[in-house]
Amino acid sequence: MRDSNQNKTPFFTKLKEYGNSHVAPFDVPGHKLGRIDNDLQKFAGKKLYLLDANSPVGLDHLNYPTGVIAEAQKLMAEAMQADKSYFLTNGTTTGILAMVMSVCKANDKIILPRNVHKSVINGLILSGAMPVFIKPNIDEYVGIANDVSFEAVKKAIDENLDAKAIFIINPTYFGVVSDLKKITDYAHEKNIVVMVDEAHGAQFYFSHRLPLGAMEAGADISATSMHKTAGSLTQSSVILTKGERIDHQRLRATLNMLQSTSPSSLLMASLDVARKTMYFHGKARINNILQLAKIAREKLKTIPGIKVIDKEYLLNQGCFDYDETKLMVKVSDLGLSGFDVYQIMKKKYNIQLELAESHMVLCVLTIGTTKQDLERLVLAFKKLASEYNKIKDKLPKIEFRYQFPETYVRPRDAYHAPKHLIKLEDAYDEVSAESIMIYPPGIPIIIPGEVITEEVVRDIKFYKEKGGSLQSDIDNDTDIDYVQIVDKENWIKYEGDLI
Ligand SMILES: Cc1ncc(COP(=O)(O)O)c(C=O)c1O
Repeated sequence: MRDSNQNKTPFFTKLKEYGNSHVAPFDVPGHKLGRIDNDLQKFAGKKLYLLDANSPVGLDHLNYPTGVIAEAQKLMAEAMQADKSYFLTNGTTTGILAMVMSVCKANDKIILPRNVHKSVINGLILSGAMPVFIKPNIDEYVGIANDVSFEAVKKAIDENLDAKAIFIINPTYFGVVSDLKKITDYAHEKNIVVMVDEAHGAQFYFSHRLPLGAMEAGADISATSMHKTAGSLTQSSVILTKGERIDHQRLRATLNMLQSTSPSSLLMASLDVARKTMYFHGKARINNILQLAKIAREKLKTIPGIKVIDKEYLLNQGCFDYDETKLMVKVSDLGLSGFDVYQIMKKKYNIQLELAESHMVLCVLTIGTTKQDLERLVLAFKKLASEYNKIKDKLPKIEFRYQFPETYVRPRDAYHAPKHLIKLEDAYDEVSAESIMIYPPGIPIIIPGEVITEEVVRDIKFYKEKGGSLQSDIDNDTDIDYVQIVDKENWIKYEGDLI
């Protein structure tokens, strides 16, 4: 039974009323509801500015909502099977920081897969929490990191019964999910909080044909990018919570610490209306998109040199489940890297893909995807394959080296310690003060506080030689010759109670 209350869009409705009310604005923002002339206003129209207000009377405050924002958040929670929701106007990045900082105090242990988004590592720095990493399942054929097995999670929990929280990605960027329900039940048995990154999973709440959303699986807290897959504007996300394990006062205080005191009304309105559309039309439109995706996959599978990474393949690899609104195509048998295909698709066919890795590209399908666009995509792959399939130089198979460096201090301590840059080959036995990531599969080789061993240096060199894309906190090109380390000589290691 649908709830007719979900027809309401309390925040958007009030915002529209305010914009049309001929108010004399002596508050900010300074564009005064569009009473200025500029190029954006000329292009996008005055209405865009009419919807950009900063907490005037009647429009509530995100920092302490009691009116229309509170109502809109309640509707969001109900639509997404949560007890409570919190609107975010700086993306799931802020949601993840707030989750980690509000659940974990300094030195609390948090169990997490190594392939987490960088905001989680930053959450460790800000909170002072201590990571306990789990190895995700790695697919060397496609060159990506996938889910974590229940067994790996159980082992980590059994070995760390004092852990405060476990962090799960639902789904990964590529659409793979872990057995969240089983993990949640086990973690709760051991009194461990389950927090979830649903940057790519907002659509799960609106279709039974997709994997379970975190709230449906009984998790305590999730950060969900409505903007990525549920149709709201970029940077609009939500935190969802369920049950009694979350301290809402601390969560609210943390959010107020991290978010602007001038949250965007446009973004909040977009959350309100995206929720309504998904609630009433999500199921049918997701069914439609799954059908279109199936047809596209069947056509793509007939193209020589192209390999579709589908649910059947992933389940055979031992993955728990897969979100079929993601479309993964392995292109390296054409003799091209995913990065090449990403560029060619845009330049030659005006098709913008979501992501490229060495061997594959990722397309994200949502309720906004059309049949015509999918047909264009399939046709472009056909043309691409007919042009490049003659190339005989296949890309070499990816070889992954993988280890967990030893932790010397918490990420937070390394972040605050005095640091200096040294040449990579001189960095043996030093403590890293930065993260170095390798793409694919998007796993940090080292994070702040870990010891740079000979193997770490060897792995960084190995990936560089193989043309892998390396990213560090301080150096965004792939030429990582220097690494930032803790300056131990000038560092007084804090040995008291950790803060
Ligand atoms: C797995 C994952 N988590 C979190 C984020 C951050 O989400 P947002 O862009 O909403 O800040 C991203 C962004 O791409 C992501 O891929």
